[in-house]
Amino acid sequence: MRSLSKIIVLIIIVYGICEELPKGITTCSRSDENFNKCLSSAIQEALVILKDGSPEFDLPKIEPFTITQHTDSEAIGATPNFYLKSSLKNAEIRGLTAGKVLRTATKFDKGYKIKIESEFDKISIIGNYTMNGKILVLPINGEGECNITFVDTMVRVESHGRYLTKNGETYIDIQEFKIKIIPKRVLYNFENLFKNDKQLSDTINSVMNQQWQLVTDNLLPGYEEKFGEQLIGVCNKIYHNVPFNKIFRE
Ligand SMILES: *[C@@H]1O[C@H](CO)[C@@H](O)[C@H](O)[C@H]1NC(C)=O
Ligand SMILES: *[C@@H]1O[C@H](CO)[C@@H](O)[C@H](O)[C@H]1NC(C)=O
Repeated sequence: MRSLSKIIVLIIIVYGICEELPKGITTCSRSDENFNKCLSSAIQEALVILKDGSPEFDLPKIEPFTITQHTDSEAIGATPNFYLKSSLKNAEIRGLTAGKVLRTATKFDKGYKIKIESEFDKISIIGNYTMNGKILVLPINGEGECNITFVDTMVRVESHGRYLTKNGETYIDIQEFKIKIIPKRVLYNFENLFKNDKQLSDTINSVMNQQWQLVTDNLLPGYEEKFGEQLIGVCNKIYHNVPFNKIFRE
């Protein structure tokens, strides 16, 4: 009996790491001709199932999704009249679980590669910001609460990884996560953009909203990069714990 329980303990130790995906998540078979279609709806459903996160996988909440403090994303404009350096802290993204996954493309050869294209009616970044720089000769040196709302937005994600072998099982290790956010309109509201002058602050906000495309082209790449870096860690919490074959069935 003693040796049997030792064996059982050993089995649990050896195989304990081979976890399953969180309950309720659909898995798709790679040999299915509709694999990418299946994956698109599985991802869309998973965002909703995991909206409150998963303590078991140490996954953070998705709705809202807390942005780890990110410092100094620089937005250097095409003209000397546009220069912004901004950072976000205590900020969250709202609306990520309401996305519609339009299509996915995957490649499982020497490495792992996935592309996901999704659409969101409305995503808001709510939080605290600091910003300094210059827009159209107006100097900006602001700090306060902000609401950046993206309307009718296409989000393209491209992620690459390699395979790792652990105790005879293959796992994915994400190494790169690129995000491209393509909104049809962005509504900016930066409170206190011009310290102690509400009127000027309102003026600059309306300039930013009129020139939203210019502001967005300059502000977004820095944010996209930081979000991507944060999401590598989030995805790897699942990929490092659930074998490849249990996520993407044969
Ligand atoms: C922004 O900062 C203020 C003051 O520090 C704080 O009261 C507020 O809760 C913060 N906002 C968010 C979304 O964390
Ligand atoms: C942020 O702005 C959008 C668009 O103006 C608005 O619909 C939303 O209610 C705002 N969110 C907050 C928390 O103020």
